[in-house]
Amino acid sequence: MLDRLGVEYLDLVYLHHPAGDIDTIVAAWRDMERAYREGKIRALGISNFDNRMDAFNAIMEQEIKPQIMQIECHPFAQRQETRELAEQYNIQVECWYPLGHGDQRLLNAETLEAIAAAHDKSVVQIIIRWHIQEGFSVIPGSTNPDHIEENIEIFDFELTDEEMEQIRAMDQGESGRYFNLNYDMMGGMFTNPPREWDGGF
Ligand SMILES: NC(=O)c1ccc[n+]([C@@H]2O[C@H](COP(=O)([O-])OP(=O)(O)OC[C@H]3O[C@@H](n4cnc5c(N)ncnc54)[C@H](OP(=O)(O)O)[C@@H]3O)[C@@H](O)[C@H]2O)c1
Repeated sequence: MLDRLGVEYLDLVYLHHPAGDIDTIVAAWRDMERAYREGKIRALGISNFDNRMDAFNAIMEQEIKPQIMQIECHPFAQRQETRELAEQYNIQVECWYPLGHGDQRLLNAETLEAIAAAHDKSVVQIIIRWHIQEGFSVIPGSTNPDHIEENIEIFDFELTDEEMEQIRAMDQGESGRYFNLNYDMMGGMFTNPPREWDGGF
């Protein structure tokens, strides 16, 4: 990876999915631990381990613990239970689909529009600021240079406690998620020989 990217170290490397059996997952983690010890990786992370506790627990038994846990998280799915789990192990939560993957129901939500108007900011900026004030690491995606510029302009204002509460009240729990993977099935795709996938999650 270092050769391909032309760099001497990587800030962060994840295991993207807990796919496959536990031995395979732990073997991959041990390779990452070795790269960490050699200074090739500065921080190790896990992603989407929130639905597969056997894999999460296996990683937590290893010598180097994950510093980052990437999960789906946005105002419609605020992931309280998983956040508590991360806190228990002192792991930083990083949110994927932080803008709900651009879902217009989220980007046009009245609560957010009112808060945006009060701060003369866009709804997207309000959502990103909410993530930051919640203590999340947040990775909004955009292919639009104007949006990318807009999305970094969130450090010159602060949401009030009341506004934070209004956004917290938008939480729909697990049903607010867009992409709740069936890891058992997903893991089956990565076993050898692969299990047949029926196309459903
Ligand atoms: N670990 C995982 O399993 C996992 C799963 C999904 C995603 N991710 C990661 O999460 C990150 C974000 O995912 P994502 O990009 O799919 O979702 P997202 O950040 O929630 O939403 C991106 C959408 O928001 C729009 N957007 C961004 N800034 C905007 C702005 N200022 N105004 C209006 N619209 C704006 C983008 O459109 P424009 O391009 O037009 O700006 C795009 O349609 C990526 O790095 C992705 O790789 C990880």
